[in-house]
Amino acid sequence: MKHKWIYALLAIALLVAMVPTAPASAAPAGAAMACAKDYTVNAGDTLSAIAEKEYGSITAYWPIMAATNAKHLTDASYAKIENPDLIEPGWKLCIPSTTDAEAFLKAFPGRDTPTGVAMLFGEGAKGQLIVASWWTNGGEFAGLNEMFKMFKEANPDVEIVNAAIAGGAGTNFKGQLLSQLLGGVAPDTFQLHAGWEADTYDPGVLITNVDDAYARNKLESVFPPTLLSMLKFKDHYWGVPVNIHRSNVLWYNKALFEKAGITAPPTTWDEFFAAADKLKAAGIAPVALGGKDGFELQHTFETILAGSMTAEEYAGLWTGKTSWNSPKVTAALETFKKYLSYANEDHAALTWAAATQLLIDGKAAMNIMGDWANGQFISGNFTDYGWAPVPGTKGTFVALSDSFALPTKAPDPVNANLWLDLAGSKAAQEAFNKQKGSICARTDCDYSSFNAYLQSAAKDWTADSIVPSVTHGAAAKPSWATKGYADAVNLFATSGDVAAAQAALVAAAADAGYPQ
Ligand code: GAL
Repeated sequence: MKHKWIYALLAIALLVAMVPTAPASAAPAGAAMACAKDYTVNAGDTLSAIAEKEYGSITAYWPIMAATNAKHLTDASYAKIENPDLIEPGWKLCIPSTTDAEAFLKAFPGRDTPTGVAMLFGEGAKGQLIVASWWTNGGEFAGLNEMFKMFKEANPDVEIVNAAIAGGAGTNFKGQLLSQLLGGVAPDTFQLHAGWEADTYDPGVLITNVDDAYARNKLESVFPPTLLSMLKFKDHYWGVPVNIHRSNVLWYNKALFEKAGITAPPTTWDEFFAAADKLKAAGIAPVALGGKDGFELQHTFETILAGSMTAEEYAGLWTGKTSWNSPKVTAALETFKKYLSYANEDHAALTWAAATQLLIDGKAAMNIMGDWANGQFISGNFTDYGWAPVPGTKGTFVALSDSFALPTKAPDPVNANLWLDLAGSKAAQEAFNKQKGSICARTDCDYSSFNAYLQSAAKDWTADSIVPSVTHGAAAKPSWATKGYADAVNLFATSGDVAAAQAALVAAAADAGYPQ
């Protein structure tokens, strides 16, 4: 008899555990605020100035944004404010009372948290979808926005909340997201690289596997096996991929090449440095390099490594098969050192996108970057560029893939799964990737309306040896990729000490469990 009670209690506990957790954004505070008055934006107005006039503080504009966005959902005469820095004359705003504004600010955890950003937008009849990523640059946002448009069309009653955190390669995003997830606060879905990166989020604990989304959408039959094996981690899938990016691309400005009398892109490092000398002699900055996002140097070096050995040897660096003591690693460090000597000295102050912009503006001739630079060219309407594999990497495709993951504490798992279904679809992948500068994760995309670079990348993907990128989450344990390897490369960029850098790389590999 006693046991029956225990079983009943267990059953209830199980049921409770199975019910999705209440949305963190259950009652976005914006919806709770009435408009004490309306305000029509005049030319020259800023939200800060309006907040100062209303509440005596230039930073108290969040409640105005939240109340206006909540109103917008039921009355489109109110504006929708996506970005508090961008308001336009004629927009109608909802100004809450000082008491409501103060209460809102007290509860508001800041724009950079899923809960905070959710509070700034209203809730549709079918709730919200909070999408977190680091896609804020031109081509990146353009791609994401294509998916937003498609999602909105299919689910008009769901309010999409863009919880992006700027910083290339997720440099700010990953740490912030992790601490939010650990604190029990989650977006509905977030950007996750295929491969080892899943380990960052304690798979099965902070993120739930998305095997169901694969089964539902028969995704195993539409993604290539190489990608599937990159995506499968600890026997499960943790994200639905939207694309495949290539990291080892050398981009160049065609007009500047012509000006310096360079007729073909370099294929070896000797040719590269000869071209760089010609450019210098013609008064042109040869290399544009970024560094501010904290990944650009590691990125460049992984591509140089891939060009200094066979694809198999490069892949072996991350599995313990190739020793970091190899003379080929020494040679790669020497090449990297020389490469840096041709780069802009202020690279630590420029993001990858700013370095790409130097090429667009004709202020520098060459740049090693992943093919999100192609997305940046597309969004900047720049067409006078050429590309080639990073010297030495012809036939090798250093790959990474962006996917969308499902946090265990996603406030709205239903909407999150609708997003995952969209992410895996052919229509979304075609629309997204044309802007993003990547190829589809699916094998059945129609490339006829993709640009020439992407058509060539799609061909290379099927012909080349595919190896994983370390800088973008695919190849190695997160601690090795973002600490051991990254620290050694960053230190080397300032010290130029080849022997010390190689020793640090050897030690990092050993720390990761691959004694050299
Ligand atoms: C990569 C990501 C790309 C691109 C790039 C720059 O890690 O996979 O989609 O956004 O960072 O931010």
